[in-house]
Amino acid sequence: MSSLKDEIDMQNLPVHIAIIMDGNGRWAKKRFLPRKLGHKAGADPLENITKAADKLGVKHLTVYAFSTENWKRSDEEVKGIMDLLRNYLDRYVAKADKEDIKIDIIGERSRLDQDIQEKIKLIESISADKPGLNLHIALNYGGRDDLLRGFKKIAGRIEDGSLRAEDITEEMISENLDTGFYPDPELVIRTSGEERISNFMLWQIAYSEFVFNSKLWPDYTEEDLYGDICYYQNRDRRFGGR
Ligand code: IPE
Ligand code: IPE
Ligand code: MG
Repeated sequence: MSSLKDEIDMQNLPVHIAIIMDGNGRWAKKRFLPRKLGHKAGADPLENITKAADKLGVKHLTVYAFSTENWKRSDEEVKGIMDLLRNYLDRYVAKADKEDIKIDIIGERSRLDQDIQEKIKLIESISADKPGLNLHIALNYGGRDDLLRGFKKIAGRIEDGSLRAEDITEEMISENLDTGFYPDPELVIRTSGEERISNFMLWQIAYSEFVFNSKLWPDYTEEDLYGDICYYQNRDRRFGGR
């Protein structure tokens, strides 16, 4: 069977792909299931897409799993998502020796349950030396919150006298964000047909290309990823030049 994978120009592969994994609730609703089962159904595509991106040779994959605004949802739904996350982290730890990918979490951690914070620390330390793809999971992440925390770090240096306001650079702002030293995403994919950013990586997406895929996240497959990469590769990126 032919695959869109063969159409990908490997010389022009995005180094960093970011995905807004949206549509779990609608997937469940269509099946008259509780929303939390929609989130559960979203776990397999996450695993498949991570593996596919790793195999292709993508270096960074950032996935938006829970936003700073998602706390507004029912306690039951939030708990369902957090339990799935616990599960995901535990599964990785259980088969860590066979794993190839490096995992870290971006977002504000102090609001997460203590046991989740500990699981995150564990997974970041055991996966730190893995050779494969860097999977960044955005959890309690908001682009504005990321900027706010970054600005506070920089302001702290001005306050203690180690930095002058006029010496602040764009690089310094980038480095003080959760995404630190890794490159901005060339490609941002959002599933479910919604065409908005919903407070994802506001600074980092200045020149990203966007692909809005109408598939709901639980239905998103490796072939969809390959297709979205091909679609991106046919764009003419100008960066303000001509
Ligand atoms: C995305 O799916 C997952 C999270 C935001 C946690 P949604 O739960 O937003 O699904 P829809 O948008 O309601 O279909
Ligand atoms: C964005 O999706 C957040 C995640 C996918 C984690 P939402 O479903 O929360 O965004 P809105 O409410 O449609 O803007
Ligand atoms: Mg949604």
